[in-house]
Amino acid sequence: MAAIPRLPEGFVWGTATSAFQIEGAVDEDGRGPSVWDAFTATPGKVRDGHTAATACDHYHRYEEDVALLRRLGADAYRFSVAWPRVQPDGTGPVNEPGLAFYDRLVDALLDAGVTPMPTLFHWDLPQALEDRGGWLDRDTAHRFAAYAAAVADRLGDRVRHWITLNEPFEHMALGYALGQHAPGHTYLLDALPAAHHQLLGHGLATAALRAAGAPHVMLTNSYTPAIPYSGSKADTEAARAYDTLHRRLFTDPVLLGAYPDLDGFGLAGPLPFVKDGDLDRIKAPIDGLGVNYYNPTRVTAPEPGTTPLPFELAEFEHVNTTDFGWPVIPSGLTQTLLELTADYGPALPPLWVTENGCSYDTAPDADGRIRDQARIDYLEAHVKAVAAAVEQGADVRGYLVWSLLDNFEWAEGYHQRFGLVHVDFATLERTPKDSFDRYAALIAEQRR
Ligand code: FCB
Repeated sequence: MAAIPRLPEGFVWGTATSAFQIEGAVDEDGRGPSVWDAFTATPGKVRDGHTAATACDHYHRYEEDVALLRRLGADAYRFSVAWPRVQPDGTGPVNEPGLAFYDRLVDALLDAGVTPMPTLFHWDLPQALEDRGGWLDRDTAHRFAAYAAAVADRLGDRVRHWITLNEPFEHMALGYALGQHAPGHTYLLDALPAAHHQLLGHGLATAALRAAGAPHVMLTNSYTPAIPYSGSKADTEAARAYDTLHRRLFTDPVLLGAYPDLDGFGLAGPLPFVKDGDLDRIKAPIDGLGVNYYNPTRVTAPEPGTTPLPFELAEFEHVNTTDFGWPVIPSGLTQTLLELTADYGPALPPLWVTENGCSYDTAPDADGRIRDQARIDYLEAHVKAVAAAVEQGADVRGYLVWSLLDNFEWAEGYHQRFGLVHVDFATLERTPKDSFDRYAALIAEQRR
């Protein structure tokens, strides 16, 4: 294995998880229901009817999980705070036992020398807010800011690094446009207000975090270079349209204070749900931009009359795929970091890879060891891809592996295993995989 180039001094290494995917304990200590509880309870929505009622039982086993982070030598840990634990109805007084859990988690992380990096919204909206329209309702943005203030009030004396939202594009597309994730709406382009209200929520929450003294605030988006199927003009335009929807719609307003032109989507002129002053709130300065990267997206011009969208997605040929079927193309990570750097110039804050990882269902061998060489190869190649971007001028400050633990992978239930640590979902036993040891060694080598 060729050596991994040294990342700059102070580069942050760590892992990421999210509340609904690992915590379990969905009915405990006053937690309210979330849209994901309702979705998992709906037959046919999650593969094999899996639910996250127990998940990794992290709610009760967080000390063991923090010990794993210490053993890994992680600098940082990105987790998410479950809004329905803190405000069971999404509004009103805080639920003290819910906040107390995150208080204990933060203390345990700090004791272990691991920087806590909470994300305030990783898709588990309180169901009571969904009943009022969810992110299609502008009011949800204001409620999100109030919730952010409550969390910052409790944790802000120890937490310095905050992330407002996780992947608002996926949440809009899968949750509101295509119905593959909670809350399960199939509104297609009518889902767009869910983009704007999430971004408004990001802006308002950023202001609330600042008011509470937060020194470092980020937004995490997913980024995927849009690769034209061919060199044809039609495919190139289709790729540009996809990039507008996936990347620019969620980045231009935040960094440039303007929405991209959506004429190609039949949306000429001002967007009716954008009110005066919204863009000023959305472009509140941030200290870093979170980049979640898994793979690039191949895009082709649509067959006339087949889709209301100005693009179609296509498969890459002759590439390795993970067990999720996602193509393994590490150069796409270099590309996405460099495209952001080139396209946003001085408006771009430092970048953080807040998620990167792969699903491989490597079973334990007879000796109990999990020899997940495919994950090791994936991680090494992607860390090199980050180093290549840094060499070419991208300002990248950290890299967080998705995920610390095998966990509840949304509509796939427990079928996709992304963890550095294997979880036996019958016994909840944790077993670090070979990739865990390799990542620990990589972190140690980088510090030397
Ligand atoms: C990302 C999500 C994360 C996880 C990975 C595999 O889109 O943010 O929760 O499901 O994909």
